[in-house]
Amino acid sequence: MTDNPKIEKLRALKARTRLGGGPERIESQHKKGKLTARERIDLLLDKGSFRETDAFVVHRTTDFDLDKQKIPGDSVVTGWGTIDGRLVYVYSQDFTVFGGSLSEVHAEKIVKIQDMALKNGAPIIGLNDSGGARIQEGVVSLGGYGDIFLRNTLSSGVIPQISTILGPCAGGAVYSPALTDFVFMARGTSYMFVTGPEVVKTVTREEVSHEDLGGASVHAEKSGVCHVAADNEEDTFFLIRKLMGYLPQNNMEDPPFIPTNDDPLRMSEALDTVIPDDPGKPYDVKDVILQIVDDGQFFEIHESYAQNIVVGFARLGGHSIGIVANQPAVLAGVLDIAASEKAGRFVRFCDAFNIPVLSLVDVPGFMPGTDQEHNGIIRAGAKLLYAYCEATVPKLTVIIRKAYGGAYIVMSSKHLRGDINLAWPSAEIAVMGPDGAVNIIMRKEMEQATDPQKRKNELVAEYREKFANPYVAAQRGYLDDIIEPRETRPRLINALEMLGNKRDPNPAKKHGNIPI
Ligand code: HXC
Repeated sequence: MTDNPKIEKLRALKARTRLGGGPERIESQHKKGKLTARERIDLLLDKGSFRETDAFVVHRTTDFDLDKQKIPGDSVVTGWGTIDGRLVYVYSQDFTVFGGSLSEVHAEKIVKIQDMALKNGAPIIGLNDSGGARIQEGVVSLGGYGDIFLRNTLSSGVIPQISTILGPCAGGAVYSPALTDFVFMARGTSYMFVTGPEVVKTVTREEVSHEDLGGASVHAEKSGVCHVAADNEEDTFFLIRKLMGYLPQNNMEDPPFIPTNDDPLRMSEALDTVIPDDPGKPYDVKDVILQIVDDGQFFEIHESYAQNIVVGFARLGGHSIGIVANQPAVLAGVLDIAASEKAGRFVRFCDAFNIPVLSLVDVPGFMPGTDQEHNGIIRAGAKLLYAYCEATVPKLTVIIRKAYGGAYIVMSSKHLRGDINLAWPSAEIAVMGPDGAVNIIMRKEMEQATDPQKRKNELVAEYREKFANPYVAAQRGYLDDIIEPRETRPRLINALEMLGNKRDPNPAKKHGNIPI
C-alpha cells in the first residue's frame, strides 16, 4: 500500500491490464485446456524476467459499438525477457480479448517488438492463439498482417524467429508462423489452416474436423509445417527453451559454447559393429548420432516428417552443430521430395546462423517413380543441392555406408566445398549400386553365361570389390581420410576446432535464386 493516489491509480490500472478479458473468459480458456497469454509467458521465460510494453494500448474502433469495449493492452501481450539469461522478445496473443483477434493496435504492438528484436539482435518468439483478423476492423487488420509478414521476412536470417501455435491460427494468419524458422504446436489444442472446415465443406464437399484438417499431428507428419509437436503447452515451452540453447542471438554471433564432461577423445566401440554385414539391411542412424555427440543429447527437428532423413541440433566438444543424416531404417534412407526440402531448409538455417553442419551419409540415391518425378523431385533435390553449395559454415561429412549417384554429390561432398570428408571402411561410393550397375553394363555377358544368375552374383561381387568402397574416392582426394568408426567423435571434434576460424565468402550478390 502507498498513500500516493497517483501511484495507487497506476497500480490499479496495471492490475486491470493483467486481467485481460476478465475472470470468466480466463476460466473458459482454462476449461479448453489452454493457458492464458501471461501464464504462457511466465512458463517460457526465466522467472521474473518479463518486461511488458504497451499494456495501456487500446483499440481505436468505434463501429459495432466497439468503443464501449476497450480492454487495456488489447488482445496481445508484448515485451521481452530472458531464457537462460539470454535476451528474447516475445508476443503472446490473448484469446480472452476478442478471441485474440488481430486489430490495428494488436499488429502495431507486434511490429514494435519485431523492430526492437531486429535492431537489438535478439530472437523473437510468437505465441499464437487468435481468431484471425479482427472482423469489425476490416482492411486495417489485413494491413496489420502485412506489416508483420514484412518484418518476418526482413528478420529472416538475421535473428532466429520461433512461432508457437497454441490455439486457432487460420486464414492468412498462418503465413507469419510459416515465414519463421521453427513452428511449434501443442497437440490437441492447436490448429492451422488457410480455410477452415466450413469453407472446405462448401468448396470441396469434404467433411473434416479441425484436428484432421490442421492439427499438430497433421502438420508434424504430413505437411511438415510444424517442426516440433509437443504433448501440451508446458512441454512446448520446455522444448523451446531447450532449442534456444543451440542458437546464437543473431547472424553476427556464434552459438553458445557449453563445456561438457563428455571426453572429446572418447572412442565408441559400439560404432564398429553398428553397420549390418548385409548392405541391404537397415539400422537406425539415430544410434550413430547418439554415440557421437556430447552426452547423447540430440534435439530433433521434424521428427515425424520425412523420416527417411534425420535433422536436428547437438553438441560436439561443447560446440553447437546441426546434423543431417540419411535414415536407412525408413525407405532405405532414399532422398525424396519431402526429405530434400526438409534437409535443405535445415542446412540454410544452420548456415544463416553460423552453426556448423555434420552430414552422416548412407543414401542409395534419389527416389524413382512417376509420383516423385511429376511432383518435382528435380526441383526439390536442387534445393538441397543449392543449400549445401551455398553454405559457408564448417561442413563435416562422414560417409557411413552408401553414397550413390547424385545423392553422393548432394550430401555435402568435397565437390560442394565439404571441409572435412571422412568415410568408414564400410562406405560404398559409386555411380549406382552394384546390382543396378551390373544389370546395365554387364547385361550381354550375363545373358551369354550358362548360369546367368550365378554369373550375375559373381559380377556383383566383383563390382562391389572394385568400386563400391571408399578407397577409389580417397585415392582421388575426394575423401580426406578413411577412419575406424570408433574414432568418429574425436576426429569430428578435432576437425570442428581446426575449422574454428573458417572464412569462405560467397560472391557479392543481391540474393541467389534457390529453386523454390
Ligand atoms: C473479432 C472475434 C474473432 C474475430 C473470435 N472473436 N474471432 N472477434 N474478430 N476474428 C470473438 C468471438 O466473437 C467471441 O466473442 C470471442 O472472440 C471468442 O470466440 P468464440 O467463437 O466464442 O470461441 P471458440 O468457440 O473457441 O471459437 C474460436 C474460433 C471462432 C474458431 C476462432 O471464434 C471463429 O471461427 N472465429 C472467426 C475466425 C475467422 O473466420 N477469422 C477470420 C479469418 S480470415 P464473444 O464476445 O462473443 O465472447 C483472416 C484473414 C487474415 O484472418 C488475412 C491475413 C493476410
